[in-house]
Amino acid sequence: MENVVRIAIQKSGRLQEGSLQLLKESGLSISNGKDQLKAHVRNFPVEILFLRDDDIPQYVEDKVADVGIVGENVFIEKGKKNTLIKRLDFAKCRLCLAIPRSEAYTGLQWFQNKNIATSYPTIVSQFLKKNNIVAGIHEISGSVEIAPGIGLADGICDIVSTGSTLLSNGLKEVETVLYSEAVMIATPELAQEKQNLLNKLLFRIEAVQKAKNNKYILLNCPNDAIEKITTVIPGMNSPTILPLKKEGWSSLHSVVDENDFWQKIDQLKSFGAQGILVIPIEKMIE
Ligand code: PRP
Ligand code: ZN
Repeated sequence: MENVVRIAIQKSGRLQEGSLQLLKESGLSISNGKDQLKAHVRNFPVEILFLRDDDIPQYVEDKVADVGIVGENVFIEKGKKNTLIKRLDFAKCRLCLAIPRSEAYTGLQWFQNKNIATSYPTIVSQFLKKNNIVAGIHEISGSVEIAPGIGLADGICDIVSTGSTLLSNGLKEVETVLYSEAVMIATPELAQEKQNLLNKLLFRIEAVQKAKNNKYILLNCPNDAIEKITTVIPGMNSPTILPLKKEGWSSLHSVVDENDFWQKIDQLKSFGAQGILVIPIEKMIE
């Protein structure tokens, strides 16, 4: 029983699906009865706890869970004695100040002596202080976006992802306070056995993340273009070159990362590459 890593993830909401997907892609077979508090994993010594995201930092600090997956915004707001051990590259969003669309926004001074409704009082008051703005903060835990409409506050500070929540509540985004994404947090002192298990899991997560950022690429090119093409797609070690039946031509296999993908494809074409195939990679271990 002791030799199990307990991972807390969100019970329901924006982060839940991405968290489960990441763990499944890392090879964990999770038997998830949707309404359960706990899920067992058959093939890895891990136990999954489904909790309210806002409570996860406290549970991790108290060692009820060893590790948690939360929004960076929640991690920062709660200020618990936890360590951010990995950025997870999903659930990207921003924490924003927003005001009614009918208001003319004059800059941060607009908020001077106004009232702001938010679930992130710590982050907001630090932001205001840093910018020399004095404003009232109304802490509310949900449906923050309705506060201006019912006269509870002049503006809000809340998470924006697609922006549709703001739009449907007649609000407009005026300042970005913080960018956020899903992160993995842990208690600073994990027992060595648990740490070893966690390292194994982190290794798998990295393989999944790398695979997402890279594609397998195959192309045909004249032999005299191989050197130039290799500078654009050097691969994990070096590209594989196979001779084509057609004299003077080769098939070149490599990996290409997602950054500047189309720019790289244009370069390859200009060097004479033809018949380019790009294929997803499931796992990538260097
Ligand atoms: C945030 C925020 C909005 C919504 C914004 O909630 O409170 O309700 O997401 O998304 P949109 O810009 O795509 O419309 P979150 O999922 O973080 O849940 P919680 O605050 O209830 O935990
Ligand atoms: Zn929440």
